[in-house]
Amino acid sequence: MKTVETKKELQGYLKDLRNTGRKIALVPTMGALHEGHLSLIKEAQQIADIVVCSIFVNPTQFNDPKDLEKYPRPIENDLKLLRQAHCDVVFMPTVQEMYPSNEPEWHIDLGTLDKVWEGEKRPGHFQGVTQVVYKLFNLVLPDVACFGQKDFQQIMVIQHMVKIKELPVEIHICPTVRNTQGLALSSRNTRLSNDGLKKALVLFRALTYIKEHIRKESPAVLKEKALGILQQEGDVTVEYLAICESASLQEVEQIIPGKSYVALLTAWIEGVRLIDNMVLEH
Ligand code: PAJ
Repeated sequence: MKTVETKKELQGYLKDLRNTGRKIALVPTMGALHEGHLSLIKEAQQIADIVVCSIFVNPTQFNDPKDLEKYPRPIENDLKLLRQAHCDVVFMPTVQEMYPSNEPEWHIDLGTLDKVWEGEKRPGHFQGVTQVVYKLFNLVLPDVACFGQKDFQQIMVIQHMVKIKELPVEIHICPTVRNTQGLALSSRNTRLSNDGLKKALVLFRALTYIKEHIRKESPAVLKEKALGILQQEGDVTVEYLAICESASLQEVEQIIPGKSYVALLTAWIEGVRLIDNMVLEH
């Protein structure tokens, strides 16, 4: 496994590989890797010859400096996991390397996509995400880039950026990896007590209820029932729950057969912010 810290070295290394006709996949991460991240590496290996994983805790996507400071950085363990997963290249730049100081401020028109849900709660977050992902795409020039469905809104935002900037990269969506009881894997789960972990299963139960009843009940009723399920567990504070049209992420009042919908859910348990979603086929 090749580890690279500078843009120049990365570009040189990948250029030679690209010239031999190898298909390159990029898996962007912020480290603190778990099975969810590793599933992206595995999928990337199925579709490309060379897998590049980036590890970079991107400061521009954190609106809370304390959150940035607290973000776990277990780099040795991450490298061990990536080696075990037979990842080909790891790119782990410094902040200075990614953000030289004389850069113009980044802004991309994401329409309503960065104004709702995560975008509303975390102002500037998706501008920061697109900024770093755009830089990574330009550096790696991947044929394909893999993202987890776990961060559904992030995928919609990146697909939008790829479209309006006409970037020659295919976005591959990987399913959310859950523990055996349904809890979506996240580095934040480690901050929950055993009791909190049990309570957190209620997110999956509420989303599953919506998915299983989407053909039978209206969005308003589905939402009410799902909120009822969430309230059955004490100490679960729902930040938002919405049934949305998948592409626009606008909340809907009616389900139209043939269209694609997603249920988005964010809730707090023991001071930990948990985010999950479920795609609802119709
Ligand atoms: P990070 O939170 O490290 O996540 C990296 C990738 O792993 C994302 O595509 C995310 O959706 C995916 N992922 C996380 N948990 C998952 C799970 N349980 N199942 C499947 N995939 C999962 O998302 C980011 O970093 C950053 O915003 C980034 C895109 C790297 C830009 O800085």
